[in-house]
Amino acid sequence: MILLKKGLIIDDDKLIQKDILINDGKIVEIEDEINVDATVYDCTNKVIFPGGIDVHVHLREPGFEYKETIKTGTLAAAKGGFTTIMSMPNLNPVPDTVENLKVQQEIIEKDAVVHVYPYCAFTKGEKGHELADLKELIPHVKAISDDGVGVNNLPLLLEGMKIAKENDIIIASHAEDALFKYAPAGEYVAVKREIEYVKEIGCKYHFCHMSTKESFEAIKKAQEEGYPITCEVAPHHMFLNEQMINGNPNFKMNPPLRSDENRLATIQALLDGTACMIASDHAPHSEEEKQRVYEKCPNGIIGIETMIPLIYTNLVKPGIATFKQMQEWFVENPSKVFDLPLNEIKVNAMANLCVLDIDTLREYKKEEILSKSFNSPFIGTKLYGWPILTICDGKVVYKMEA
Ligand code: DOR
Ligand code: ZN
Ligand code: ZN
Repeated sequence: MILLKKGLIIDDDKLIQKDILINDGKIVEIEDEINVDATVYDCTNKVIFPGGIDVHVHLREPGFEYKETIKTGTLAAAKGGFTTIMSMPNLNPVPDTVENLKVQQEIIEKDAVVHVYPYCAFTKGEKGHELADLKELIPHVKAISDDGVGVNNLPLLLEGMKIAKENDIIIASHAEDALFKYAPAGEYVAVKREIEYVKEIGCKYHFCHMSTKESFEAIKKAQEEGYPITCEVAPHHMFLNEQMINGNPNFKMNPPLRSDENRLATIQALLDGTACMIASDHAPHSEEEKQRVYEKCPNGIIGIETMIPLIYTNLVKPGIATFKQMQEWFVENPSKVFDLPLNEIKVNAMANLCVLDIDTLREYKKEEILSKSFNSPFIGTKLYGWPILTICDGKVVYKMEA
C-alpha cells in the first residue's frame, strides 16, 4: 500500500488537503487523515495531479532506437508526470498494417512503464501515395496520423477521411503544405484546405502542434460553425520565439518557432479554448544528429519532461490560468477527444497520478534527462512545478532523487 500524506487535490478552483491511500493499483481511500501501515510519501504543500495524457510523442522504436526506445521514452514520460501517451507512427516499420503495428505493440507490452496508445499511419510508409490498411488497423488504435509529414495528396486525404468518418475515428493532422513548407503559410494554407474537407466529410479532425494566428482563426471559426475540429499546442510555441534560434539545433523543430505575434496567438488560443490540449511533440534526436550544422540537423526537440513545469511556471503560478484549466489541458480534454481512459483522483479510480512540487525553483539539467536524447532548448531553464513522484496503475514509475 502507498499512502500520500497531506497532498493538495484540485477541487474546482481550490486546492484541498487530503490523504490518499493506494492499494492493488487503485485509489482506495481519500480522507482528511488516514493512518495505516503503508509506504508513506509526505506530500505537504505538493499538488496531487492526475496522470498527464500526452497525445503527441515520438518514441522512435521500432526503427530508431539510437534516438529513443519505448523504455527510455516512457521513463521520460513518467518523469514528466505523464501516465498515458500516444506514440507517433514515423517508425520502421511504419505501422501501416496490423502486422507492422504489432511489432511496436509487442515492445510496448514488454518495456513501457506508462500506458502507450500507438497511432497507425494514414498512408503506406507515410509516403502519401496509398492509404495504410485503415479498415484493418482502426480496431487496434485510437487515432490515425501521418505525423512528421503533411498529407498533400488531396484525393487520398479525402478517401481516408471518408473511412475515418465511417468508422468514427479521429485523424490527427500534421498540416503542412508542400509548397510553403516551414513558412507560416505552410501551416495555415493546409489547415484551411483540410477544414474545407472536414466540412464536406464530417469526420473528427485534430490539428497537431498549431502555431500560427491564421490557423487559430480558421479553426475557431470552424468550431463555432459546429464542425468536429480540435487542436493541440506545444509549450515551445508558447514560450519560445524565432529570435531565440540563433543557429542552435535545439531550437529547431517543425513547425518552427515563430514570430512573437504568433507565439502570443498560441497562448491566446489555449486560453480561449480554440486549442483544448497541450502536447509535447517530444521528438528525440541523437547528439551526433544535433551537432550537425543547423541547416542539416533534423527537426525536433524533446519536451515531455518539461511540459508540466513550463505550464505551471508560466501560466498557473502567475495567475493567468488555474489548476483546473491545467487539468483540462493535460488530462480531461485529451481523454475526451482521443477516447482514452480518464485519469482521476477519486476513490476506485486506477492510481494514475503525479505529485508536483510547486514551491521549489529548479534548473533543468542535462544530467537528469531520462530520455535517450538531450535535444531540449530548456536545459538551464529554472522552473517550478516539477513532478517529484509519478504513479502508474499503483506503481511508482518515477521518483525524484533527493
Ligand atoms: O519537429 C518535428 N519532429 N516535427 C516533425 O514533424 C517530426 C518530428 C520528428 O519526428 O522528429
Ligand atoms: Zn508533426
Ligand atoms: Zn510530431
